[in-house]
Amino acid sequence: MITRSLGAAGPRVSAIGLGCMGMSDLYGPSDEAESIATVHAALDAGVTLLDTGDFYGMGHNEMLLRQALSGRPRDKVLISVKFAAQRAPDGSFVGIDARPVAVKNFLAYTLRRLGTDYVDVYRPARVDPAVPIEDTVGAIAEMVKAGYVRHIGLSEAGAETVRRAHAVHPIVDLQIEYSLFSRGIEADILPTCRELGVGITAYGVLSRGLLSGHWTKERTSGPRDFRSRSPRFSGDNLDRNLALVDALRAVAESKGATVAQIAIAWVLSRGADIIPLIGARRRERLSEALGALPLSLSADDLARIERAVPADAVAGDRYDAHQMALLDSEKRRGVAG
Ligand SMILES: NC(=O)c1ccc[n+]([C@@H]2O[C@H](COP(=O)([O-])OP(=O)(O)OC[C@H]3O[C@@H](n4cnc5c(N)ncnc54)[C@H](OP(=O)(O)O)[C@@H]3O)[C@@H](O)[C@H]2O)c1
Repeated sequence: MITRSLGAAGPRVSAIGLGCMGMSDLYGPSDEAESIATVHAALDAGVTLLDTGDFYGMGHNEMLLRQALSGRPRDKVLISVKFAAQRAPDGSFVGIDARPVAVKNFLAYTLRRLGTDYVDVYRPARVDPAVPIEDTVGAIAEMVKAGYVRHIGLSEAGAETVRRAHAVHPIVDLQIEYSLFSRGIEADILPTCRELGVGITAYGVLSRGLLSGHWTKERTSGPRDFRSRSPRFSGDNLDRNLALVDALRAVAESKGATVAQIAIAWVLSRGADIIPLIGARRRERLSEALGALPLSLSADDLARIERAVPADAVAGDRYDAHQMALLDSEKRRGVAG
């Protein structure tokens, strides 16, 4: 397995991480036994970075990981956990809480659910607009000092917030959407992270399946599936986005690769400080994703990819208007408040 450094001063991790969200939540029904088999297959293939959130299935994802990791050496895997999203019993998202007291409370429950003494990377899923980032990071830093957390990360934070947080305690990585369809970080956030030595764990690299080559116009998503509310998956936007995928398919075929592999290889090609988190929840998908690692893209390949999917060609925002407004990372671009 190829490894990369998680941030300039952070640990080395597999060049692709496994995102576990879809095993418990947000993408419709999933199969628990297959999810566990997928985690095992990832570990056996040398994947060392697993990403979860305490709110993915309201604790289900952490308990699933505990089961999957049982009997495996704890120090051979890095567990990245997001907290702060609040949910109601019906699964709806009802707020963000990243107050210092909440940090400690969330972490206590996470440690118990995961059955571990420490979390490798702990991060607020969203910046809490009511709490200075210095206070949230300061509280996690106390947990680092106490031995419950190894590294601090951020998620969907803008450049200025990353800078402020990093001044309180080194930030190892920023988790943020980055793909051929979502290139917003290139202007400001990525250069700031590079200046500070903060790594990027990129999510949505397959644009939640839209950019995988497996999505079709006929595929429907249930009401609990994030994609049923995503602007990029609806109406004319979907037609336009699938046309981009078709253009990319032609490039993939000429390389003897799949669309998903080209989309992942493109993100990998953007810099050694970027680690794609891939949301595979079946072994077959995982194996396809890992097939991106040996692909090398020449300057000519990259130019053809950019012609197939120009930087601003995607139709639709990456979240609905309500969720866009919660993204600190989008504020400076004038998309949200
Ligand atoms: N910080 C944040 O705000 C945030 C937000 C979202 C996600 N995340 C993290 O990032 C991880 C990855 O995000 P994501 O799941 O949205 O991104 P993704 O990897 O872009 O999308 C995963 C989806 O793509 C489909 N897919 C098709 N071919 C695939 C292949 N070869 N390998 C993997 N998936 C394939 C899967 O479909 P099927 O399973 O239906 O086949 C799955 O629904 C999540 O699991 C989560 O840990 C973080």
